Amino acid sequence: MCGIVGIIGVEPVAPRLVDALRRLEYRGYDSAGVATLEDDRISRRRAEGKLGNLAQKLAFEPLAGNIGIGHTRWATHGAPTEGNAHPHATERVAVVHNGIIENFRELLADLAKDGYLPKTQTDTESVALWVTRELDRGSDPEFAVSSTLKHLRGAFALALMFKGHDRLLIAARKGAPLAIGYGTAEMYLGSDAMALAPFTSRLAYLEDGDWAVITPEGVTIRDGQDGIVQRELMISNASALMVDKGNHRHFMAKEIYEQPETISHTLSHYVDMGAETVALREALPFDFADLRRLTISACGTAYLAGSVAKYWFERYARLPVDVDVASEFRYREPPLESGGLALFISQSGETADTLAALRYCAGQGQHVASLINVPESTIARESQVAFPTLCGPEIGVASTKALTAQLTALASLVVAAARARNTIDEAQERELVRALVELPRAVSAALGAEAQIERIAKRLSKAKDVLYLGRGAMFPIAMEGALKLKEISYIHAEGYAAGELKHGPIALVDETMPVIVVAPSDPLLEKTLSNMQEVAARGGKIILITDEEGAAKVGAGVAETIVLPTVPSFVAPILATIPVQLLAYHTAVFMGTDVDQPRNLAKSVTVE
Ligand code: AGP
Repeated sequence: MCGIVGIIGVEPVAPRLVDALRRLEYRGYDSAGVATLEDDRISRRRAEGKLGNLAQKLAFEPLAGNIGIGHTRWATHGAPTEGNAHPHATERVAVVHNGIIENFRELLADLAKDGYLPKTQTDTESVALWVTRELDRGSDPEFAVSSTLKHLRGAFALALMFKGHDRLLIAARKGAPLAIGYGTAEMYLGSDAMALAPFTSRLAYLEDGDWAVITPEGVTIRDGQDGIVQRELMISNASALMVDKGNHRHFMAKEIYEQPETISHTLSHYVDMGAETVALREALPFDFADLRRLTISACGTAYLAGSVAKYWFERYARLPVDVDVASEFRYREPPLESGGLALFISQSGETADTLAALRYCAGQGQHVASLINVPESTIARESQVAFPTLCGPEIGVASTKALTAQLTALASLVVAAARARNTIDEAQERELVRALVELPRAVSAALGAEAQIERIAKRLSKAKDVLYLGRGAMFPIAMEGALKLKEISYIHAEGYAAGELKHGPIALVDETMPVIVVAPSDPLLEKTLSNMQEVAARGGKIILITDEEGAAKVGAGVAETIVLPTVPSFVAPILATIPVQLLAYHTAVFMGTDVDQPRNLAKSVTVE
């Protein structure tokens, strides 16, 4: 995640831009920069490392100008150097960006034909150059940006400032948050309410696809089809809360919607986007090529992330995997071949059962690695290597963005392992990495099914029992769907391997039992379709989660079909978490339960 800020002020803005960036540093801090219009010229100050380095540079070389934009960076494309720090600019436009422009190489190739050449390794510079070419062709800033946005693919938030327009900023949002702040005679832009809290509490959050033309006289917001839209003006209480819900009713909803951005952010730690390869930053105390077995242990949703990873490690890296819930693993005391790798997955990094399992493995001469969201946690500290999930604080007790961050990190580790073990070649690595890079955009699109899912949830909230079915890597996702539903709506639900239905659970099926089938169009779909026929023959109400191809194959007996974007089967399990999260969330809202803090639960179970 990166942090973006912009101000159209009535006095010099550089110091306030830096102050706002300080409140965004939690989003990323490997470099930072600001740009203002000084005597109608775009002037920049940028610095590598912490924000303090930028503040120091500004102390020696102050920036004048009553309009400006700023950025604190977590590098995705290009090393975290001053040259790659935002804002990126030409003579005519400066831009700051949060997210990923997936098709930046194609854009740069097209620009090069007209002599517009990049000076950095970033994807962001392609936006500055494309807008500049539009301006050079005679477009005004509004048309130049509108036209540019139609060529961008990815999940991103942008803020742009233009030479010759010292009372104008243009912003765009597609998968990463962006808020407009309304001042008295000033206007503001920020990645979240906290950045703008000292300036204003009157905010309007852009929605996916929106872009906005901002002047002190007012704001015009347009949607992806350039139609004028209104976005609710709300009063933020960010100054009261370190973490605010944005324009969501619950933290869980906010965290579900953060996933395009948090997946991008986690991915940027593991992947070299330019080279389309996995580039692990951590020093490994083991060599994937030498491993004969991987042991994974975790609890709850984290265990289900490990269960998905088992399919991936075994399929792509040909590495045998044992995965078990930590509370069983620690007392089973399995015999472990020395020199093996044990991986512990934990959002909090404090789960007692998982920590106990880690200590058992450490005592058995295993290499010990962890995948954690809290770097200074106990599990991280007791690991030889701690791989991060960079999704920011997860407040909702029901895990959502942490799960997709775990799966994103695990998928990256799988690719690294497969390359180290020579079970995939460079072309296959690029294909798998590209699937991951394009995932945030697919997740954004999957969130678009929310209205349909809310309607389904209204009916689901009347159910007493629900069955979730899945095959292959979708089986753990079916179990995750059941876990989400029961832990926040208190409706009993079970996740089952679809092939196991006929070995018992089918006895439960009748017209009162909703059966939710997670089955994108992969080689196992045909098998699952016949399981669905078995359910339909007994009056079961099926809710199918699939993609276009899968939807085309569906027969009678399916009450609802939730159609996801078609993605490579490698990342399909990550995408399938979105509808099951939304289904559980809206069912719980209809049930009137405490969605963010469900009864009997705790965010981190630090006791046995
Ligand atoms: C998930 O929705 C639950 N809140 C719970 O299962 C959680 O995943 C489990 O307690 C593990 O927590 P951890 O990831 O912090 O170790």
